Parts: sequence; C-alpha cells; structure tokens
Amino acid sequence: MRIVLLADLHGNWPATQAMEQALDRLQPDKTWFLGDAVGKGPASRACCDWVRTHCDAFVGGNWDYGIGGKEFPEDGYYWDQLGPERMQWLRELPREAELTFAGLRFRLFHGRPVTHLLKAQSPREELEATFTTPAGTFDGVIFADSHRPFVRTVNIGYICNTGSVGNSMGVTRAHCLLLEDEPFRMTVVSVPYDNEAAAEEARRDPGLPHRDAWIREVLTGIYSR
Ligand SMILES: [Fe+2]
Repeated sequence: MRIVLLADLHGNWPATQAMEQALDRLQPDKTWFLGDAVGKGPASRACCDWVRTHCDAFVGGNWDYGIGGKEFPEDGYYWDQLGPERMQWLRELPREAELTFAGLRFRLFHGRPVTHLLKAQSPREELEATFTTPAGTFDGVIFADSHRPFVRTVNIGYICNTGSVGNSMGVTRAHCLLLEDEPFRMTVVSVPYDNEAAAEEARRDPGLPHRDAWIREVLTGIYSR
C-alpha cells in the first residue's frame, strides 16, 4: 500500500508535470491533495484541474479559500483564470481530514486557516497542540503550508510536512510525501523540474500579480513576497 500526499502547486505547471511523471513511476494507491493548488504562479487553472483529475482525496489551503471565496480584491487575475465553477469547488474544500495507515491515525490539514503558519522548527509544544481535536488525540499530523518538507517526531507522535510541488523554499525541486507499509515508512520525494521554464511562463504573463517575486522564488527558493 502506497499513499502520496502533495500540496502547494501554486500554479506552477512545469513543476506539476514533473510531479505527474514521478507519480507515474510511484503508482500510488491513493493521492491526497493538502491544499493550495492555485495562486502565486501563472497556471492556476491548469493546476486546479490537474488536482481534480489526479488526486483522490482533498483538503483546502488558505490560497484556495482566499481566491475561491474572493477574500482579496487584488486576486482578480486568478478569478478571471478560474471562473465560477472552479472557485466554488475551491472554497468548498474540507478544512481537514483523517487518514489511518499502518495502524496509525493521522490528522491532515493544510496549515492556515486551521492553524497559524507552522514550520519544522516551530516549538515542540506548538506542534503537539495540533494533535488533539474534539475527535481525539492523533498518532500523527501531516500538513503543508510552509513549503518545506520534513518528517519529525514530537513527544506524542510523528509530524510531517508534504513540502510544495510548485513553490518550494530552500530546495527548488517539486516535493511530496510518500507513505508505505510493511514496513511502515515515510519518505520525502524530491523531483527536479525545469525552473527556468516556470520563470519564463511568468515572464510572458505581464498581468501576474507579484511577478518578479514569483520568478525569484521559483529560481532561488528564497521567499520574496
Ligand atoms: Fe502555499
């Protein structure tokens, strides 16, 4: 049994295509989307449609709700690209889910708006606070949002981050998380893609909001907004 969890495509089509080729080789039994298909990059429509076609289960992210729910007037570029049907799908995505795998019960969410922005180096107590909900205390938490993949333990279980497909910080590859059993293991999958092609798509689109910051992030992995 093999499960992939991926997130934060952020309208980066070359990165999404590279991830699709990796999934073709991995042949997962199930692929979870953990939020942020859209926003930032120039291919929000293509990435939204890709998620709906290639993933089996879904959790929304702050950008999905922000754009789908028209929360920010400066996001008109994305509304025009997506249209009302995709925007409704985005704003109606569930905010969290759970997954039991290899006898471990994981809580799944994107990050914001369920929590504040959590990172690998967040204090242990802050990470542990995310394990307990009215549904009980989980054995592990898998989330996204910080655009950096990691697998970490805290005193009450595992906490893991999918990393980002299209907007990775630190290492400018496409990332996802792979769960396998017998024996149970959690692996960061790291896929190179054509970052220069992704930058060029943005250069050809003068309407893209914060275009220079996006290009710098894609080429350097340094947060630039
Ligand atoms: Fe994101």
